[in-house]
Amino acid sequence: MAAPTTGAPARLGLPNLGLGVGLRNVHFQDILAHGPRVDWFEIISENFIDNHGWARAVLDRIAARVPIVMHGVSLSIGSSDPLDMAYLARLRALAAELRPAWVSDHLCWTGAASVNSHDLLPLPLHEASLRHVAARVRAVQDFLGRPLIVENPSSYVEFAGSSMPEWEFLGRLAEDTGCGLLLDVNNVHVSSVNHGFDAERYIRSLPPRHIVQIHLAGPTDCGGYLVDTHDAPVPAAVWRLYALAQRLTGGVAAMLEWDANIPPYPELLAELDKARAALRGEFAEAPVRRAAPERETVLAGPLGFHLGPAHAEAVPP
Ligand SMILES: [Fe+2]
Repeated sequence: MAAPTTGAPARLGLPNLGLGVGLRNVHFQDILAHGPRVDWFEIISENFIDNHGWARAVLDRIAARVPIVMHGVSLSIGSSDPLDMAYLARLRALAAELRPAWVSDHLCWTGAASVNSHDLLPLPLHEASLRHVAARVRAVQDFLGRPLIVENPSSYVEFAGSSMPEWEFLGRLAEDTGCGLLLDVNNVHVSSVNHGFDAERYIRSLPPRHIVQIHLAGPTDCGGYLVDTHDAPVPAAVWRLYALAQRLTGGVAAMLEWDANIPPYPELLAELDKARAALRGEFAEAPVRRAAPERETVLAGPLGFHLGPAHAEAVPP
């Protein structure tokens, strides 16, 4: 599978891996039988920590053929709890075994008092929280011995106490710590609709030399707001943001996240083909998935908002 490389220099010493997908157990048989047919895979780190069963055996076979990237959902870099050094030790051990191209997680917090909510919760964006997160990113990078790649989350609420936009927070975090950025263009789209900001301005405001990877996914329209469900084709608006990001960066690794209503592997590959078309200026139109009323009620939750099931795949496969 051809990579969308443009000869751009590697960022933070990290290469443009081309086009990949998330490695999901429902596709194991197809991949083992017919080969990867993608440039690389992203795994959910937590699915393989302390897991030496069938899934790990499959991963080891696949990792012998194509690069692997480790994507975590439990780092909780924005939390006021101390860093979970036991988790970091397991993460470092897994990285030593798998030798991933890089290790990423989200700008979020995931719980309090050692209770994991399994949600990627937004944090207030101001000078104090930036200093707090930057110190933790440096500590994580020192411990892991590699740059941390930080993803922009999707969000559904904002803090009244925030004093800077998310793009400024992430850009300054990257410049201050030397961390990389995982630009999820679908998350930018989702949050731009939910909060009413200009998605293109968000992407143009990030420092392109820190963007190491792009995420693609399809959201769900819940009527008045979008939810980052990863269960639908990528909409044209997200393909446009993808093309913009690739143009601004000069070409970085990109991958498709699909974590619910997962299609057969050939259909996933067909969706990935649209990334190539987007770089030619062809933006595939896809019907935006709309939540059924009962699903919308669940998503809305008792507090009137929901923080996204986008990473509900973080259970052992
Ligand atoms: Fe993402």
